[in-house]
Amino acid sequence: MAFRASLRLAAKAGPGAAAARSAPRQLYSQAAAAPTSTLAGAPSGSAHDAALPNPDPADDSRSARLVAEYAPFMVATYSRPPPVFVKGKGSYLWDSESRKYLDLTAGIAVNSLGHCDPVSAKLIAQQARTLIHASNLYYNPWTGALSKLLVETTRATGGMHDAAATFLCNSGSEANEAAIKFARKVGKQTSPSKTQIVSFRGAFHGRTLGSLSATPNPKYQAPFAPMVPDFLTGDLNDIPALQELITDDTAGVLVEPIQGEGGVRVASDEFLVALARRCKEVGAVLVHDEIQCGLGRTGRFWAHARLPEEGHPDVVTAAKALGNGFPIGAVVVNGGVAGAMKVGDHGTTFGGNPLGARVAFSIVERLAGEGLLGEVKRKGEVFEAGFERLRGRWPELVKEVRGRGLILGVQLTEDPAAIVKAARERGVLVITAGENTLRFVPSLLISDEEIEEGLRVLEAAIEATR
Ligand SMILES: Cc1ncc(COP(=O)(O)O)c(C=O)c1O
Repeated sequence: MAFRASLRLAAKAGPGAAAARSAPRQLYSQAAAAPTSTLAGAPSGSAHDAALPNPDPADDSRSARLVAEYAPFMVATYSRPPPVFVKGKGSYLWDSESRKYLDLTAGIAVNSLGHCDPVSAKLIAQQARTLIHASNLYYNPWTGALSKLLVETTRATGGMHDAAATFLCNSGSEANEAAIKFARKVGKQTSPSKTQIVSFRGAFHGRTLGSLSATPNPKYQAPFAPMVPDFLTGDLNDIPALQELITDDTAGVLVEPIQGEGGVRVASDEFLVALARRCKEVGAVLVHDEIQCGLGRTGRFWAHARLPEEGHPDVVTAAKALGNGFPIGAVVVNGGVAGAMKVGDHGTTFGGNPLGARVAFSIVERLAGEGLLGEVKRKGEVFEAGFERLRGRWPELVKEVRGRGLILGVQLTEDPAAIVKAARERGVLVITAGENTLRFVPSLLISDEEIEEGLRVLEAAIEATR
């Protein structure tokens, strides 16, 4: 009864009413006040280990009260640690206790130009005052401009040499969903039985039923079985197996040049070239999912740009960094794929609306800059050297360092959860991937000092967990 009454009250007063009634009022004023120091503002009621700069908020803290109020209304799709983030700037986040964190996750490889990139913020405000959305039933200047920019930038930076057109959508899953549909459409032009979609163990292509069917992880698939029919799985980097895996019945093949969620596992150049060759032999559409590893993260605009032309895909999918936090995805296709799609075959209400496309246009221009890309490679080497030092100190713990540029994985021999927590409580955010892998996907604009800070804290976190 009381629950119903409070829901009614909240609905009447509009969103934010519940927040205004309780602790979060303080929370919002703090967010606006742009805290600048790790220790600014005493952690509210935190009786946690006071020796740590950022002890996880205690049960009687503002953060805990906010979580207790709101979490029951959120479908439980994620397990989140206690801090509540209220502000971001560059490589840093601040929580509702006014504490500062160096973010080596960049919102899972999204905030490549840092949190609250001021150029994007300005453009969002400008475009929001000009035109936000008019639907894909009509032209606007930005959907087309971004589509053209992606094609031209792809070609100019050594990516897909025959890139011809772009489909804009809202997320990575939707980009892959579109790519799967495009591949099936192309396949059906040859034969009604050319419908198979191939992906690789360890891949993560998304959560929609189609993209999930290409994500061969039982943990994600089993609750929603049966999957879409005609999806097959192979092993990454297994060149001899391609002959049997990819046949005349294959419509499309999805591959991440570097598997992100799968544990920062790199597809070898030889494998990717052999894959492209085999796809050509049987007339299958090759899709490179660069949603996590693309858009500058490896130190090239596209990860696949290191390959010779014969290794290029027919389709590249992107999302994440494309909007630096604004939700937008893209499917860049060659002329063969574009030609197979007819008006009405596919669509989206929001995809590529003027607001998202305007912001992404500026982001693509900047992420393709040679200066930025060169720095990504160099900064990746600074990280790698630091990780190798950790490997030297704890060889029984740190097994391998993988990745390229600023998508890096440190393979551990144990569950990294304790290290992740210890790092967070010392003011550094790190995420995991695959099996026992620490994943590093920071802002591409991270400074050398921030990298050193991250490495120092990581070392202290490992030390604390020994
Ligand atoms: C390589 C890859 N593909 C697809 C996706 C799905 O993207 P989204 O979560 O935007 O749907 C992700 C997300 O992590 C990804 O890393």
